[in-house]
Amino acid sequence: MTKPRLLQHGRLMPALESQLQADFDILPLWKEADPSGFLAARGGEFIGLVTSARTGADARIIASLPNLKVISSFGVGYETIDVDAARRQGVTVSNTPDVLNDCVADLAFGLLIDVARGISFGDRFVRRGDWMRNAAIPLATQVTGKRLGILGLGRIGKAIAQRSFGFSMDIRYHSRHPVADVSWQYSASAAELAEWADFLVVACAGGPATRHLVSATVLEALGPKGYLINISRGSVVDENALVAALAGKRIAGAALDVFENEPQVPEELLSMENVVVLPHVGSGTHETRAAMGNLVLSNLKSFFETGRLLTPVAA
Ligand code: 8YV
Repeated sequence: MTKPRLLQHGRLMPALESQLQADFDILPLWKEADPSGFLAARGGEFIGLVTSARTGADARIIASLPNLKVISSFGVGYETIDVDAARRQGVTVSNTPDVLNDCVADLAFGLLIDVARGISFGDRFVRRGDWMRNAAIPLATQVTGKRLGILGLGRIGKAIAQRSFGFSMDIRYHSRHPVADVSWQYSASAAELAEWADFLVVACAGGPATRHLVSATVLEALGPKGYLINISRGSVVDENALVAALAGKRIAGAALDVFENEPQVPEELLSMENVVVLPHVGSGTHETRAAMGNLVLSNLKSFFETGRLLTPVAA
């Protein structure tokens, strides 16, 4: 049986690239000197596209693959994939949900505790010799028993909620709609949630619908004792407003795994001791990345064997 001909858009982790090469007839587009010229000449060869949340697939690349049937993407977020363009062309799209919930939620909690208790700050304090110099380290903020506001109660948001049980936290949330299978109080808006919360954790999807949902007003509502944690997408937070709120001490601190223009991090944040910054590593463990890679492969295999994807993106 001939192997299905796939196009790889953007780099993927080496183990996944090797497996794709073993199982499919795959061409890495990122190795082509002139990708547009290549697609214009040979786009018709490919029936599948493998990409990632980071690289995505815009309407142009989808249109340049007239025989495309399936897109399998590495990552749960798919705001970088033009799903409407794909659908119009009869292309189905899969992502890698669920397998990363635990690691992303673990990191959200790690960030929350870090920014509240000053773990990264304390680490810098020791390394630069301040402890030896007997300098005073400021007191931190208690986590246990505090109010946790979750913005976006999807699969990851629920995994974050679950972790808070061990910290006896009160939970409220705001989502597009109240969630049927939970008993936590629903806040009607992001601002209402922020007003109530000690910790506001952003766990909603990215894309135009949530762009700048965490606005200057929401940060104002979070207040000078409130912390912002973001493990979803930088686009959800108005980054200029965040910098201004931190500079003006209108919120207590922020812990961020994601940014509006990655890998750019606003310069101002780098000198703030009450800010924790990470390079988008929510899913970045051996275990989770392997599971994500396997799901990319399983989706493709399922599609070519049965015509159905295991985890198609929501319609
Ligand atoms: C990915 C992510 O590792 O899953 C997502 O949506 O943001 C990360 O887990 C990364 O973006 C893959 O490209």
